[in-house]
Amino acid sequence: MASANQVNRKEYITEIGNDVQKAASLLEEGELVSIPTETVYGLAGNALDPRVVVKIFEVKNRPYFDPLIVHLPHLDAVESYAHWSHPEFKVLAKHFWPGPLTLLLPRKNTIPDLITSGLPRVGLRVPSHPLTLELLSKLNFPLAAPSANPFGYVSPTKAEHVMEQMAGKISYILDGGSCAVGVESTIIGMEEDELVVYRKGGVTIEHIIEVTGRYPRVLSQGSDPKALAAPGMTDSHYAPAKPLYFFEDPSKPLPHFLQDLSVGSISLKSLTNSSRFVNGKVLSEKGDLQEAAVNLFSAIRSLDATRIDAIVAYRVPDTGLGWAINDRLHRAAVKRA
Ligand code: TXA
Ligand code: MG
Repeated sequence: MASANQVNRKEYITEIGNDVQKAASLLEEGELVSIPTETVYGLAGNALDPRVVVKIFEVKNRPYFDPLIVHLPHLDAVESYAHWSHPEFKVLAKHFWPGPLTLLLPRKNTIPDLITSGLPRVGLRVPSHPLTLELLSKLNFPLAAPSANPFGYVSPTKAEHVMEQMAGKISYILDGGSCAVGVESTIIGMEEDELVVYRKGGVTIEHIIEVTGRYPRVLSQGSDPKALAAPGMTDSHYAPAKPLYFFEDPSKPLPHFLQDLSVGSISLKSLTNSSRFVNGKVLSEKGDLQEAAVNLFSAIRSLDATRIDAIVAYRVPDTGLGWAINDRLHRAAVKRA
């Protein structure tokens, strides 16, 4: 397997635009293109060409043990790459695709080993952004696409976020505006006939229960060794460069070690102690968790770019998209014993 220093990285002049045909031609030539999806921007390449897949890992600085999601133009394409092993999967796909749900299905050998990191399942999804659907329909291969951020950092939800971190590393960013969902897809699979949620995301747990009539087991990171089935669920993901502290209760005073520091805050609604913070990001003044998800990664990024010492984020209600928001904040947070 190639390692970082074996791959001769090209320097690119990175362009932003909305030319789907240009994106398609570059992808056909084996180049990487950043694509908009309803969740976050992806760093896309031909999923069937291992030389291209290697480039994705290298540009993202991602370890090879962390598998990639494959993006398809429509549900009918699944059969070429995986087995519909359980009827529930088709029910879920029919209900939520195109949309923010990734299914882990037993792979066929059309999928290169690099994509799944050698695991027996492949993650598949049909994204719902119109530009990317148009792009996928022009190509005769599916697109492998992790989020278009360096490994471990906050995911991009705007073309400019991608530019900030991928300039010079890829040739084109297909600009589809701000991502409508704002957090990554929900990842779901089946273990011995039990539905398992490996990553909380854009499709809510409540919605999955409603559609399948079943209660999935929801893995929480760090606590369950099986979480390694989706290695991206390891700690220190989505982390800004500034230390982020994740607290429950905004009415409690800040701990001592933060008291003399310049601190920015992230909260669902305005804080009563907002004067304590030099910069406060409110995710949704009306308490709408959908709006909050859309604003989450931009809020973290923009605080990370200001001259503060630390970020304090407060838990949002554990319901609907709140599960995914709290999950991201938890994993962005500094781990303290
Ligand atoms: O919303 C999304 O899913 C975005 C957009 C671009 O589609 N993509 C995304 O990809 O979030 P990425 O690579 O940043 O996160 C994918 C996660 C990783 O945590 C990876 O470990 C897990 O999915 N994953 C992918 N394929 C898997 C597989 N075959 N088995 C287990 N986990 C898998
Ligand atoms: Mg990611």
